[in-house]
Amino acid sequence: MPATRLDGKKIALEIRAEVAKAVEQFVAEGNAPPKLAAVLVGEDPASQVYVRNKERACEKTGIASQLDRLPASTSPTELLERIDQLNRDPSVNGILVQLPLPQPTGDGPALDERAVLDAVDPIKDVDAFSPINVGLLMQGRPRFLPCTPHGIVQMLHRCNIATAAKHVVVVGRSEIVGKPMAMMLAQKDGSCGPETANATVTIAHSRTKNLKEICLSADILIAAVGRPEMIRGDMIQPGAVVVDVGINRVEDRLVGDVAFDEAAEVASAITPVPGGVGPLTIAMLLHNTLLAAKLQAA
Ligand code: GUN
Repeated sequence: MPATRLDGKKIALEIRAEVAKAVEQFVAEGNAPPKLAAVLVGEDPASQVYVRNKERACEKTGIASQLDRLPASTSPTELLERIDQLNRDPSVNGILVQLPLPQPTGDGPALDERAVLDAVDPIKDVDAFSPINVGLLMQGRPRFLPCTPHGIVQMLHRCNIATAAKHVVVVGRSEIVGKPMAMMLAQKDGSCGPETANATVTIAHSRTKNLKEICLSADILIAAVGRPEMIRGDMIQPGAVVVDVGINRVEDRLVGDVAFDEAAEVASAITPVPGGVGPLTIAMLLHNTLLAAKLQAA
């Protein structure tokens, strides 16, 4: 039987409607609408699209947004100064620095991504990239959850896919997805979402030996490697759930990290690309922006 498609777009709309309602309530209690400040450095076309989508989503949810467009020639000092201003601006609740930062132009100094993310005030860190928020997550007492893994947890929960005692294989060890995803699913107490903890998690990556055998042992396989269609149908256990985080442009097509047609023959459920995990990331960013506003109002 072909796999069920996990409709991330539909679930994201559900979550966005819930956030919009909660924003309305927050404002009715006498608070200013939550506000997200996005910082976009340079002209990367994909980043421009992401940032525009985030702004639109904010608008539809009753969240205010502002966009700082800075030239690719921005110096590290200028960027850090801008972040400091946003940290100190009481009207800004959430700060998002769109990644990747551009490579240096000419012979100017490079922008150090780590230093830039470290500069964001942890109470406004809606991406959950700051070491404070990563540390709180590691300790099982998260403040903000990182948007993509949180979206995946929400999707699994809302599709009645339990993770307790399941073997989850996460392929990819990025700071944004792989590492926090593994940590969230391995948590003991459900601190990262109801019914989604207590998994047995394996992190695999580009240097993993026997990748195929490890993937074949997954009840839930999460692909976040950024390599087009690297996960083939013969790497998937019959009946497994497959979550594809990849968005790769191949010629003029968007493809995931999973060979969709092959995988859909074997899996019980699978996320499409596009329309799977992508929309959930933005929905959880809206959730975090409201959470930031609430924390700052408290
Ligand atoms: N670039 C790719 N994904 C993300 C994300 O989740 N947040 C930010 N700020 N930049 C990204």
